[in-house]
Amino acid sequence: MRTQVAIIGAGPAGLLLSHLLAADGVESVVLETRSEEYVASRIRAGILEQSSVDLLREVGLGERLDREADPHRGIYLQWPHERHHLDFVDLVGRQVFVYGQTEVQKDLVTAAHARGQQVVYEVSDTALHDLETDRPSVTFTDQDGQEHRLEADVVVGCDGSFGPSRSAIPDGVRQSWERTYDYSWFGILADVPPSTDELIYAWHDDGFALHSMRSSTVSRFYLQVPNGTDVADWSDDRIWDALAVRLGHGLDGWSLATGPITDRSVLPMRSFVQQPMRHGRLFLAGDAAHIVPPTGAKGLNLAVADVALLAPALTALLKGDHAPADAYSDTALRRVWRCTHFSWWMTTMLHTGTDPFDRQLQLSQLRWVATSEAGAAGLAENYAGLRIGF
Ligand code: FAD
Ligand code: DHB
Repeated sequence: MRTQVAIIGAGPAGLLLSHLLAADGVESVVLETRSEEYVASRIRAGILEQSSVDLLREVGLGERLDREADPHRGIYLQWPHERHHLDFVDLVGRQVFVYGQTEVQKDLVTAAHARGQQVVYEVSDTALHDLETDRPSVTFTDQDGQEHRLEADVVVGCDGSFGPSRSAIPDGVRQSWERTYDYSWFGILADVPPSTDELIYAWHDDGFALHSMRSSTVSRFYLQVPNGTDVADWSDDRIWDALAVRLGHGLDGWSLATGPITDRSVLPMRSFVQQPMRHGRLFLAGDAAHIVPPTGAKGLNLAVADVALLAPALTALLKGDHAPADAYSDTALRRVWRCTHFSWWMTTMLHTGTDPFDRQLQLSQLRWVATSEAGAAGLAENYAGLRIGF
């Protein structure tokens, strides 16, 4: 098999990259270990930045999004007895959109089918070869046990945090940074209309809580829990009680509506950056190169920003202009580090530990962010998203 760009991973980064390349007349083949249905039903991100939405619209992926996404002007920041609204539109002239990653993925899959994109699902033994030459390749086994070699001009690793691409960059070349956290998120999805018009990020002595949503009938919640928490230890009553306490049930007459829980999972948190994001003819994009803790809602948006930068760079490279591809890693990493800092900052400001001094610092920081225009604008600019190419 031969193509121009071999893409490993059919998550949002991989499928969006194939879409952008196709619009530029560049051919690609996407390889994916999971099934199409599995990838499309993974419950993950829920918030799109303005710049991600602008890009999806520009490339013809905005139709359902414009019909179904819920634009939000901002978020609520909360701590016991106080809830403050930050209006991003007033602060920085940008907004965010509630549109689940599952929906973005469905739109990408529909577009891939419509253009006859070759996506090979349920592959195994993916391995990368000859990345330092002009004829790199990827070998894999298909679901019938047949071995294949996909030759390409360029290989792009969009294979998330557990794929093989990241470690295909040699040890002496790659550098990485990692931060782990003492807590995880317990995430639930519930068939209940949201009890809020916009997301609530709540600091609480018992731990952080987040009230998010997917639609007018489906709510998404997260609770800070210790690492190693077993979902089986949390009954529905325990979940709703913890959410009610942390989200301020009773605060100024506010109440939390409850409903049937349809999904529950525990998500560990990590910050990770690997550089460079390019080595020879291998390029990395999305979670393959960087992971952020979810508190700033940045992971999916970073994946979109990477491929928005990478697609034109690869198109130019294939026409003989190497400059944009040579600049890709450094340019992408500027945004990656900004989002890595923002996600770490949101996470450490909102999750409670045992140190009473830290708690006072967090509360002081929250009060400043929520009540000073300069503080609020800093959060708003980062949350609503930096321009593509920042
Ligand atoms: P992935 O989505 O991980 O896709 C990688 C793909 O590669 C997968 O389909 C995988 O199966 C495939 N793959 C792996 N190994 C191989 C192999 N050997 N061969 C072939 N294919 C392979 N981000 C936000 O922006 N906003 C949010 O609100 C937000 N909330 C989140 C909430 C949760 C609970 C979680 C878990 C994440 C959240 N994120 C959020 C992060 C976001 O989901 C990820 O950053 C995003 O999925 C990254 O996309 P990706 O395409 O780079 O990687
Ligand atoms: C969601 C996830 C996030 O990490 C976040 O900061 C906001 C919303 C969500 O899944 O809805």
